[in-house]
Amino acid sequence: MSFQIRSFEAYQKAWGKSQDTPDEFWRDIANTFDWMEPFSSVKTGNFQEEHVRWFEDGKVNITANALDRHLPTKAHETAILWEPNDPNESTRKLSYTELSDQTCQFGNALKSLGVKKGDRVVLYMPMTPELAIAVLACARIGAVHSVVFAGFSAQALADRIEDAQAKVVITADEGRRGIKTTPLKATVDAAIANSTFVESVVVQKVTGADCQMESGKSIYWHDLIAGHSTICPPEPMDSEDLLFILYTSGSTGKPKGVVHVHGGYMVYAGYTFSNVFQYEPGDVYWCTADVGWITGHSYIIYGPLLNGATTLMFEGIPTYPDPGRFWEICAKHQVNQFYTAPTAIRSLMAAGTEPVLRHDLSSLKVLGSVGEPINEEAWQWYHDIVGQKRCPIVDTWWQTETGGIMISGLGGLSPQKPAHAGYPIPGIHPVLLDPNGQEIKENNVEGLLCIAHPWPSMIRTTYGDHERCRNTYFNPFPGHYFTGDGAKRDEHGMYRIIGRVDDVINVSGHRFGTAEIESAINETAGAIESAVVGFPHDIKGQGIHAFVILDAKSIHLTVDQLEQAAQNAVIHSIGKIACPDRIQFVTSLPKTRSGKIMRRILRKVAEGEFESFGDTSTLLDPTCVDLLVSGAKQLKTK
Ligand code: WT7
Repeated sequence: MSFQIRSFEAYQKAWGKSQDTPDEFWRDIANTFDWMEPFSSVKTGNFQEEHVRWFEDGKVNITANALDRHLPTKAHETAILWEPNDPNESTRKLSYTELSDQTCQFGNALKSLGVKKGDRVVLYMPMTPELAIAVLACARIGAVHSVVFAGFSAQALADRIEDAQAKVVITADEGRRGIKTTPLKATVDAAIANSTFVESVVVQKVTGADCQMESGKSIYWHDLIAGHSTICPPEPMDSEDLLFILYTSGSTGKPKGVVHVHGGYMVYAGYTFSNVFQYEPGDVYWCTADVGWITGHSYIIYGPLLNGATTLMFEGIPTYPDPGRFWEICAKHQVNQFYTAPTAIRSLMAAGTEPVLRHDLSSLKVLGSVGEPINEEAWQWYHDIVGQKRCPIVDTWWQTETGGIMISGLGGLSPQKPAHAGYPIPGIHPVLLDPNGQEIKENNVEGLLCIAHPWPSMIRTTYGDHERCRNTYFNPFPGHYFTGDGAKRDEHGMYRIIGRVDDVINVSGHRFGTAEIESAINETAGAIESAVVGFPHDIKGQGIHAFVILDAKSIHLTVDQLEQAAQNAVIHSIGKIACPDRIQFVTSLPKTRSGKIMRRILRKVAEGEFESFGDTSTLLDPTCVDLLVSGAKQLKTK
């Protein structure tokens, strides 16, 4: 690709150009893509206005760039390489032609269900090629996809379906991960029992398990596509037309639908993939994320395909059938770029070096990390054992809202420092602010991480609630995008991400709002009130510690029963992934006279910091702190 940077000097030059002449910088990159009609302006608006628009008046379809554009030269090259959950089952390979044909066919099938441009389609699917095909098919016909991670509960799925007012849900009979199967279709049925929006449910057969298929509503994928043509011209989309909604957690109880659009997202996903991973033609690239998260959208599907890459998709989990599975797959498919999360690295580290060293990993060229800060020990192990001290590590900082990687080394070109994401991608201008919104200009400082100028794949809105988008990201520090993260900048200008400064916790790279978990726990019979905080966890990065106040009705129950009830409430409203690691039953929470919970104290208790609580004079009842401490000392961590 013509926008691929090949040296650190070129990186510095590109960054400089992106600051001096941003429009020209982005115009050149955007023009390497196929536009059905050219855009008339690069960027309109700024953070202070209601909306920022990129590549206005341009007509484009991201799938024309991810598929059609490669057909003349890469028709028979592998687009998607799929590794099943069970290593004894066969791998599937889809060439660019096959992926394009199947996308078009499924696009036509969706049209036959009445799906039109702008309609929302929810995908609740396992990690199969059909998931990628369904994503691309939506984009192809101008429908808006909203992928919901298949580990979410029926309730969480229902909330997202309702918020998006989805017309169609695509799912599978069951999902397989390790030895477990999950009843996806049954979960969808429970989620849409009272839905007034969903007209059809499309079901991919994965395990062949029996499913309830109510006539007129549910249809199997293979029956639906039968007879449909493999020709489906890409719908011409305005650059700013919606491509997808992806729900993520914020500081309130209700997840927000982050909106991305065809033009800007395409340009940024394609550009960053090529540069961060230094992908070269013929390479095999593997990102272990799930398509249910933004990483899977940008760096399993869109980024790689926009670059004509071979992208590996894995259905299973890192520890099945044994903790060598990742490395076995790397060796089997001669993976060149490998992109995973610190939590996976830490859990595999615990299995020792043998499962790694048993496999030939000489094909690896670049290693990536994403989702949470990577601690030095995990960084070193990744570097020394997996990468054999040969492979650069790109620690990529970004968010669902940013659409693509914002701060990261470029594989092999940039200086690297353990636990540091490093320098910004050209086009991105990070700044550190103090709590008053004043920029801290010097180095060797810590502050609130903000972005000073718009970039093409920035969040456009939170679906159905633009006010919330403005208030969360653009109003806190006028003229800036506020990330919600705190960061340090070292003497060389390299960034180290410290973590969230808001009420968002990051468990194994998954984001949850503390309020979201609290409202789930408060549904438990007998629970009056709860407060949830994160605490440092060896494998997950952060664990969840819940403080729960019970009422008199619960007196006849055992602690185990109460705990189970609270866990079940979380499983019911969110899913197993959000279950607290510890539940501490308390008689009161540390509240100020104005009724606000002093979370600082709860965080200290959860961290096992039992002494210096700072000023507690504003607490209504300062003795409550001693009770919290003695309760915490008795807790066993699971
Ligand atoms: C939050 C965003 C971006 C894809 C996965 C997560 C944390 C992300 C890093 C990193 C330190 C990181 C931040 C961010 N985060 N990458 N390399 N180093 N922290 O997307 O669910 O939107 O979460 O994840 O706290 O704000 P997300």
